[in-house]
Amino acid sequence: MTADDMKKAVALAALEYVPDDTPIGVGTGSTANHFIDALGASRIRVTGAVASSEATAARLKKVGIDVLDLNATGTLAVYVDGADEANHHLHLIKGGGGALTREKIVAAASQKFICIADESKEVKVLGEFPLPVEVLPMARSFVGREMVKLNGDPELRDGFQTDNGNLILDVHGLSIIDPVELESTINQIPGVVTCGLFARRPADVLLLGTPDGQVRTVTRQD
Ligand code: A5P
Repeated sequence: MTADDMKKAVALAALEYVPDDTPIGVGTGSTANHFIDALGASRIRVTGAVASSEATAARLKKVGIDVLDLNATGTLAVYVDGADEANHHLHLIKGGGGALTREKIVAAASQKFICIADESKEVKVLGEFPLPVEVLPMARSFVGREMVKLNGDPELRDGFQTDNGNLILDVHGLSIIDPVELESTINQIPGVVTCGLFARRPADVLLLGTPDGQVRTVTRQD
């Protein structure tokens, strides 16, 4: 079974968490894309979806799901998205696709966050995947220097602009022992829009695809 097959398996499994007749939130990336396709092909009739990126909005429309404005929906019942890394507390690193800020907003505005990923994304300690940080363009160098003070090695994502018109610094070399604290510390730096740590608002359920075709469910313990 390939990583893509595992992503398809968890995308299908996530449908069980999607109620009828209500708006939901949808993330960004290859696993979220499988979820969008599965939702479009299913018998579930959501009233529409809030998209975490322009790419997701386009894919939702393509499968016939209305794209909604978060300002008009209020709190969403469920948010479904992938991750780049997940620990056993269901703290995540996200933003490999650069959509971290909108993803964090939609996740925060949702009652339940269902994270879907293949098993390779499960880690003991977050940080092997470079931590994406969205920055305002004028703050790029300043924030980079602040990242060095935190023992990180920032790298500007070459030729990339976020949907919000900003830049991404991918910060290598962080061993993230306290994700909640580091998320707050980085988000306090002037010029940072947000970092890709999803620890203050972690996932509630993590669905992990395994090489034997099964889906392992990890539920967050409060
Ligand atoms: C998008 O910005 C990211 O947060 C994605 O959710 C994350 O990179 C996972 O992507 P894949 O599903 O493509 O692995």
